[in-house]
Amino acid sequence: MIMTDQAEKLRATFQARERENSLPGFRDSGRHARVFTVASGKGGVGKTSLVVNLGLALTRIGCRVVIIDADLGLANIDVMINTVPKYNLADVVNGSKNLQEIIIKGPLDLKIVPGGSGLFDLANLDRVKRTTLLEQFGELEEEGDFILIDTSAGISRNVVSFVGAADDFILVTTPEPTALTDAYSMLKVISERGYKKKSHVVVNLTRGVSQGQKIYNGLHRVVENYLPAMELNYLGDVRYDPVVSSAVHNFCPFVISHPNSAASTALSRIAWRIAANGEAEMPSTRGIAGFIDRLRKQ
Ligand SMILES: Nc1ncnc2c1ncn2[C@@H]1O[C@H](COP(=O)(O)OP(=O)(O)O)[C@@H](O)[C@H]1O
Ligand SMILES: [Mg+2]
Repeated sequence: MIMTDQAEKLRATFQARERENSLPGFRDSGRHARVFTVASGKGGVGKTSLVVNLGLALTRIGCRVVIIDADLGLANIDVMINTVPKYNLADVVNGSKNLQEIIIKGPLDLKIVPGGSGLFDLANLDRVKRTTLLEQFGELEEEGDFILIDTSAGISRNVVSFVGAADDFILVTTPEPTALTDAYSMLKVISERGYKKKSHVVVNLTRGVSQGQKIYNGLHRVVENYLPAMELNYLGDVRYDPVVSSAVHNFCPFVISHPNSAASTALSRIAWRIAANGEAEMPSTRGIAGFIDRLRKQ
């Protein structure tokens, strides 16, 4: 019940603030979507669970959210919401479909863009195809306040480019040393590329109340010492919670099937922090147009 009350309060706050157009980072000037790339370094740390459930948690508090499934190898957002996409961005690139025709409607009006290979071949697209894609992409600006991009594991050129092109970056790690090492490597690459970007950290699969904060503090110390130009921000932790996996088995995201679970509470908290947080670094061109523009220049 506490959760429901909280959600009601947050939703009311958001809707009121949206009307006043006064909340920083939330449609604060015109209609720019805020683009987040979610990446991790290591696989299996919970990126896709986070993207889908964070998207839903944001819609719960009155935001409009579009998810782009850019995990080419293991695209599975559609599985989590129990749909089979017929088309993807590759169909937009080759001109046979427009963006509206490939968008999947998920629960709570969440919108999902199946990535396919369209977005990944950007560097190799001819001018006509690239223009087609960019024109279509511009429409996403109208569809969402937040655009969340789920990526593949590993520090591939594509993933790093997506991180560099987005307005914000969410780094997902777990307390495991292997995940932390890979998370640090990701931060190092981003730093070396000269991206001046605040990295928002989520520690997933924690056990115990203060483990997330401790892990974050450790990462922060190392980053302060070795990557002084990198700015970190702690978004919070998500405890190990069996509902996460059972929700996947039931093809229903846990934020919907188990709204009062520890994982859902954690996601609500993270959603609120994201929505209430102003943009750390203001790129010259914002929103999806800026994202594509920067992606082209990589
Ligand atoms: N907080 C959590 N508690 C319990 N299981 C989790 C949690 N987060 C993720 N999982 C499980 O971990 C596995 C990997 O999650 P997934 O989101 O697919 O990771 P990734 O996208 O990073 O590869 C899934 O089986 C998922 O159910
Ligand atoms: Mg995934």
